[in-house]
Amino acid sequence: MNNEELFKNVISHSKEYGFIFPSSEIYDGLSAVYDYGSYGAELKNNIRTYWWKAMVQLHENIVGLDSAIFMHPTIWKASGHVDAFNDPLIDNKDSKKRYRADNLIEDYIGKQEDKIEKEVEKAKKRFAENFDEALYRSTNPRITEIKNNIATVHGRYKKAMEESNWVDLRQVIIDLEIVCPVSGTKNWTDVRQFNLMFSTSMGAMEETSNLLYLRPETAQGIFVNFLNVQKTTRMKIPFGIAQTGKAFRNEIVARQFIFRMREFEQMEMQFFVQPGSELKWYEQWKEKRLAWHHSLGFGKDKYRFHDHTKLAHYANAACDIEFEFPFGFKELEGIHSRTDFDLKSHEKFSGKKLQYFDPELNSSYVPYVVETSVGLDRLFLSVLSQSLIQEKLEDGTTRDVLRLPPFLAPVKCAVLPLTKKDGLSEKALEIFNTLKLSMYCQYDEKDSIGKRYRRQDAIGTPYCITIDHQTLEDNTVTIRERDSMKQDRVAIAEVQKIVGEKTDIVSALRRL
Ligand code: GAP
Repeated sequence: MNNEELFKNVISHSKEYGFIFPSSEIYDGLSAVYDYGSYGAELKNNIRTYWWKAMVQLHENIVGLDSAIFMHPTIWKASGHVDAFNDPLIDNKDSKKRYRADNLIEDYIGKQEDKIEKEVEKAKKRFAENFDEALYRSTNPRITEIKNNIATVHGRYKKAMEESNWVDLRQVIIDLEIVCPVSGTKNWTDVRQFNLMFSTSMGAMEETSNLLYLRPETAQGIFVNFLNVQKTTRMKIPFGIAQTGKAFRNEIVARQFIFRMREFEQMEMQFFVQPGSELKWYEQWKEKRLAWHHSLGFGKDKYRFHDHTKLAHYANAACDIEFEFPFGFKELEGIHSRTDFDLKSHEKFSGKKLQYFDPELNSSYVPYVVETSVGLDRLFLSVLSQSLIQEKLEDGTTRDVLRLPPFLAPVKCAVLPLTKKDGLSEKALEIFNTLKLSMYCQYDEKDSIGKRYRRQDAIGTPYCITIDHQTLEDNTVTIRERDSMKQDRVAIAEVQKIVGEKTDIVSALRRL
């Protein structure tokens, strides 16, 4: 299966097996908004719990918060979102398609970078063992030419973006002869700015009510509560505040399923540090967060850092952790050294001090902040696309199996009587009613045992327990493992321990 087929399969599998539905489907859906089905909700909860426990429970100096979605509108003025949370948009006059102008240029740069990699790959094959890759990259004339071109384009693009000079930004697109992927023409409109925040109003009468924004990031709820949390938890710097919750962005190019949504969930942590120490902490959080992603077991080669050269208005260093989705390497998480920009700005706009008295330094200061910010839905997509496998079996048939890390699986164990007759259902229900107290289990007696195994494989259930006639004689059951399909006979008394140990989040946290 190629990547395009895999991605299509992920989308159809999500719908067919109750992971993700398009929102408002019976009204023909709502673009870039999705609902999570029963198994999707479980999987999402489990991913969120793994993040929360890894961040809050395992760090004595990180505490949680759950701030409201509605916030005072001045907060978004202070954060810079009213003035600077804009996308530069450009339309192709022939296809009538709208694009982010910066994305068109980034895609062009990406293609140039791919050209370099292709040159290196070709040379690797040609020179075999004698190949000195570093030397080749730094001296080959063709690569040097492409690199120089990238640097020039990048310089022009960066300057135009920093100065919000949309005339120059459009000129870069024209000069590079970038064509619309749909119409294939270079017939572009001017570049215009578009604010990504959704707005609504508070109060009974619309004319007299206050304009509010739906938060475009959860981070600001943490900043404005910084002193409340610090004082009530008696935290000392360095310390962090973590929060998960919905964020909203009126994305223009909302596509690729749940990769870019208009309503999504973020899991963010702001780490407050002494001024001057932020870049040390930034490096530490980069490594820690990468290690957390690696712990999911999908392979280290699936992740890479992408350092930002164009920094947001609040940052003095920033990078993405990228994941190799079926449509290529894309941002999964952002790590940002946000300086003291947000707290200082909130001090200015609110007129309240947001300072910390540091007993070590015997002085007060506005802390610097290092932020880790991952999208829960994007993480969900990475887990799903990496786990879904179509497997050819020895008998020539195929099975769809979701090889989820067991501690993330929606259902940990399915309890299946071989038949409904001869008292097997009653025995199976007895086992199910005990197991369900400690883990999410399913009881299923419909259809052949083979079909029931397949259903559980497709939703990623790590273990199936089958109750047969021997069970009534000696209190043993068979336990089938999802990935190997191997079946072992074990005592009923052992089941909870075996399944618990393999699917328990504690074992996953211990590995971190
Ligand atoms: N507080 C910093 C911040 O919001 P960001 O890089 O804009 O930074 C952080 O967003 C993460 O949120 C991204 O890495 C991505 O995982 C997720 N995210 C952002 N926009 C999204 C969208 N439209 N749909 C789904 N996830 C999104």
